[in-house]
Amino acid sequence: MMFRHSSNHRSVTTAPWQLVCGLALGIASGLAGCGTGPKAEFSYREATQKLIPVARKAIKDTLEDGFGTPHNLVAWERFPVAYGGAKASVVAAAEGVQPASKTISVSVEGDVSKLASGASVLWLTGTRAGEKAAADTVDTYDTKTKTLTWSGSAEPAPGVGDVLIVGFGHALQKGRAVYMKNCMHCHGVSGDGNGSTAQFLNPRPRDYRLGVFKFTSTLSAEKVSRDDLHRVVKYGIPGTYMPSFLLLGEEETKSVVEYVRWLAMRGEFEKRTDDDLGDFTEDSIVDTVKKSKTAFDAAKVAYDATLKAGDKDAVKPDAPIKLTDARKIATEAFAKFQASDLDQAVEDTASFLAEAWTRADDEASRIAPTVPRVADDAASRERGRLLYMSDKTKCYTCHGLLGKGNGAATEDFWKKPGTEELYPRRGLHDAWGNPLQPRNLTLGQYRGGRRPVDVFRRLYAGIKGTPMPGFGKTALKDEEIWDIVNFVMSLQYQSPQPAKTNAGGHVVATDMPEAK
Ligand code: HEC
Ligand code: HEC
Repeated sequence: MMFRHSSNHRSVTTAPWQLVCGLALGIASGLAGCGTGPKAEFSYREATQKLIPVARKAIKDTLEDGFGTPHNLVAWERFPVAYGGAKASVVAAAEGVQPASKTISVSVEGDVSKLASGASVLWLTGTRAGEKAAADTVDTYDTKTKTLTWSGSAEPAPGVGDVLIVGFGHALQKGRAVYMKNCMHCHGVSGDGNGSTAQFLNPRPRDYRLGVFKFTSTLSAEKVSRDDLHRVVKYGIPGTYMPSFLLLGEEETKSVVEYVRWLAMRGEFEKRTDDDLGDFTEDSIVDTVKKSKTAFDAAKVAYDATLKAGDKDAVKPDAPIKLTDARKIATEAFAKFQASDLDQAVEDTASFLAEAWTRADDEASRIAPTVPRVADDAASRERGRLLYMSDKTKCYTCHGLLGKGNGAATEDFWKKPGTEELYPRRGLHDAWGNPLQPRNLTLGQYRGGRRPVDVFRRLYAGIKGTPMPGFGKTALKDEEIWDIVNFVMSLQYQSPQPAKTNAGGHVVATDMPEAK
């Protein structure tokens, strides 16, 4: 575990922090890189792999600097992750600096159990702070006398009032251990949704690296909250392969939630940095060369024509740019960008993410209906049905006239976002490019929770990363959303319209009547 101290990219004071494998509780060793076994590695995004070598290296270095590797996690302080550890301060300093007296008496805030032998010691202030005493660990801690001895160098001796964190990164390491054991085979080491089992699953396991989560209680522009992730891990996602981990203890669940958040931040950090470096790709170099060649060919034709016409002053067009030269220019341009702008881009991305993930847990980010649930009676359901069928919501275009999830939108070919290219398959897709069915609402199965308020939130903010839109605030009043909730939740119990019989007593096939 490393600790990335400063918020500043270049002037980091990184205290290299030894990963203590013993802390990785219950881990299948090898998976996490402890002991022998296959090496777990963070994979990189396809977009990163497509960058020119110097740009790719810059991103990889930045990621490793800020987040480490699965074997040696880096806790970048500025990100809002509960990395874990107990804070302590020195009450009485070590006597002298003789190697024998690496003893201090401390006052501890938080969980004293973190002060076990072997736990990391990170000096935040005082003479030992910084890189010098980087590899200190707890030797002994006596809970009665509150004296701590550390292994490592005796000098410089800490002074009274110095602050240290013991077992820093404990929670993150624990989260990683839980993750490697329970989640990795679906969600992948780096949270790319590409674990070994993933290819067999539909829907596919979430790729956390967009920083987008579907079933949240937060407003459309906000990230997922800790509570939302906690609920998903605890109860699973019904109707999908995402299992319930009710049997994990509360502490394990909390720590794996932090680890998922951390992976999501790492992934989105990579994505946004990729976007910043989007000009420095091999493809764009090839493109430049192609364009230059096309321009040259056109100019050459014109040149030849003027020559033929006897114009002696015609200017010969410059030769098209060569691939090796184009590469060289791009590499030099990148070096310039790296020297002048990259640090700022990294800094901006880090602040953006830190703020967004902090805000997600604010009360103000949570969707709270302004009115209590409208009484679930026939009149409300009917109002809901009319809204469902209306052009204001167009629910039926996706979910179908009978709510079976087979609306006309599922028959169309859709464009890939930001391109003119069509998906090869009919129907909707999510932000990860996976095919997606609108929910069959007659089954009464809700992935985002089946309490009425859960369905309210789904309609208010939509389902993030999917075409299911949000209607809150603008399109619909809260009362209207409740009417639709009442209607939608009634669909599992009854066909939308009672069956009618004709004069001969035979059931007439019915459809939902058109809204007026
Ligand atoms: C058997 C495969 C499998 C395992 C194991 C698994 N998941 Fe999932 N997980 C899924 C699938 C599939 C989805 C996507 C469901 C969907 O899109 O509706 C998912 C989605 C999620 C989401 C996204 C929720 C959202 O709102 O977008 C989170 C968070 C998550 N899983 C966390 C975990 C954690 C943490 C573990 C381990 C403790 C875990 N998963 C283990 C298959 C799995
Ligand atoms: C553009 C298409 C589209 C429109 C319009 C649309 N939905 Fe959806 N809806 C979807 C898709 C796709 C999903 C499944 C998303 C997923 O699980 O990844 C979904 C899921 C749902 C769910 C399931 C929530 C859960 O927790 O499982 C409900 C309920 C729902 N929609 C109701 C509605 C209602 C009511 C309307 C109109 C007010 C509406 N939808 C409009 C596409 C749409």
